[in-house]
Amino acid sequence: MKKRVAILISGRGSNMMALVEAAAAPGFPAEVALVLSNRPDAAGLDWAASRGIRVATVDHRAYGKDREAFERAMQAVLEENAVDIVCLAGFMRVLTPWFVGQWAGRMLNIHPALLPSYRGLHTHERALDDGVKVHGCTVHFVVPEMDAGPIILQAAVPVEDADDAATLAARVLKEEHRIYPQALALLAAGRLRIAGNRVLAKA
Ligand code: GRF
Repeated sequence: MKKRVAILISGRGSNMMALVEAAAAPGFPAEVALVLSNRPDAAGLDWAASRGIRVATVDHRAYGKDREAFERAMQAVLEENAVDIVCLAGFMRVLTPWFVGQWAGRMLNIHPALLPSYRGLHTHERALDDGVKVHGCTVHFVVPEMDAGPIILQAAVPVEDADDAATLAARVLKEEHRIYPQALALLAAGRLRIAGNRVLAKA
């Protein structure tokens, strides 16, 4: 049985598209059951709906400062859709320990930097400011601390002399689209084991 995946987005959703396209392959061990957005205007929603994927919006603005009420509403939609795995893909809300706890070992995030370097926002600008020569992206399990959690896969890219944040972001994004589906496939196939901070992949 394929695992049922929900992809949580807030915007353009290019990682969501990469996951949907990878999951369309017959041998892929997961199917995209739902694309869920906290913003009704997220560009990725129309694309997913046009692919025949179920889409839903839980607008965080309807819940004011009550993060858990917002998350309980999301949780209800995830449960209604019998979701097994959650993939955060440009989902721009901080999650509470309660929500993270519901999905321990079953929720992934993609971050546009080689963690634990450059947690948070504006990773490409900060990497250029620091003059690093190697940058990249990380897929990791989600834990309550933001942009932390056991690392599943990383990809490195060179920083070129001519780079600005946009060209560097584009080079990293290409790798994001490659490793996020790989990491999801490993999890969905039951091939990952968490040992402390390390994630070990079974053959
Ligand atoms: C990506 O760079 C991802 O790593 C970060 O937010 C961005 C989302 O882009 N978490 P997209 O919506 O997947 O195109």
